[in-house]
Amino acid sequence: MTTTTAVTVRVPAKVNLQLAVGPAREDGYHDLVNVFHAVALFDEVTVTGARTRATGGPVELTAEDASGGGLASHVARVPLDSTNLAWRAAELLARETGAREPVRLHLRKAIPVAGGMAGGSADAAAALVACDAFWGTGLDRDGLLELAARLGSDVAFPLLGGTAVGTGRGEVLAPARCAARLHWAFALSEGGLPTPGVFAAYDRLRPDAREPQGDSALMAALAEGDAPAVGAALSNDLQPAALELRPVLAETLQAGRAAGALGAFVSGSGPTCAFLAASAEHAERVAAAVRTAPDCAYAVTAYGDVPGTTIL
Ligand code: C5P
Repeated sequence: MTTTTAVTVRVPAKVNLQLAVGPAREDGYHDLVNVFHAVALFDEVTVTGARTRATGGPVELTAEDASGGGLASHVARVPLDSTNLAWRAAELLARETGAREPVRLHLRKAIPVAGGMAGGSADAAAALVACDAFWGTGLDRDGLLELAARLGSDVAFPLLGGTAVGTGRGEVLAPARCAARLHWAFALSEGGLPTPGVFAAYDRLRPDAREPQGDSALMAALAEGDAPAVGAALSNDLQPAALELRPVLAETLQAGRAAGALGAFVSGSGPTCAFLAASAEHAERVAAAVRTAPDCAYAVTAYGDVPGTTIL
């Protein structure tokens, strides 16, 4: 008999190509039209068995910087207890399936922490897939998607990857076609921005917010693989709120525009800034330019879209 001793799952970061935000709902969430796009910046989550009494969840969580040093200060901020969404994902799966074998989770991080690229949500999606394989609990895709949506608004998308339109609070997903490889540069800040704080600033700035609408020009540009048209259609309703909380981001965006980026915007709730480039070489030039901006601690390039969670 063979026993699984370790399962590693690779999971991509996301950037939002459109983030249209409605007014605050009764439950405090906001209805969104959220065009998710998975990019080749990956965390890896490894689950191994732990020799201790059964707990129905993880007994230990560890994290390391897999970015070559650039994210060391980010990784130092990763919570290593049950407040980490990856931990909660393993616990939820154990509770739902009755799995009792205790596990350790290890995160190798190349996605910024609290950076607006859904790194914590990506780790949770990867933990679900890794624990499901480790425990042999055999959930199908719909079962995983349902648990993911209960964990957070951005946890379902990394299970699919590619490009997808999220509605509801972002968790109701419809895959979309992206016909061209898109080349990106990302400028990361030293600290993070709390997602609830950015939504609260949005509520203050936009008391007139209406129901969010999809952008047909963006979807047509993606389907045609027309990168300049994608660049012209990129939008993020949370950007003014992120800029209010961190005004220096305007200088990062301007540095990317000056380097000829086809689009320059705050990713999700920020503070990571995203830049669409015309080619892989252009993305490297944009990354070099934004590195000189005062708030940019680290810049990387990545292409999209890429598949979602993959068992290695
Ligand atoms: O769903 P998740 O836990 O990722 O959301 C984090 C926070 O972001 C929520 O507590 C809420 O403040 C805000 N949010 C929101 N509307 C959404 C998604 C997130 O207001 N659709």
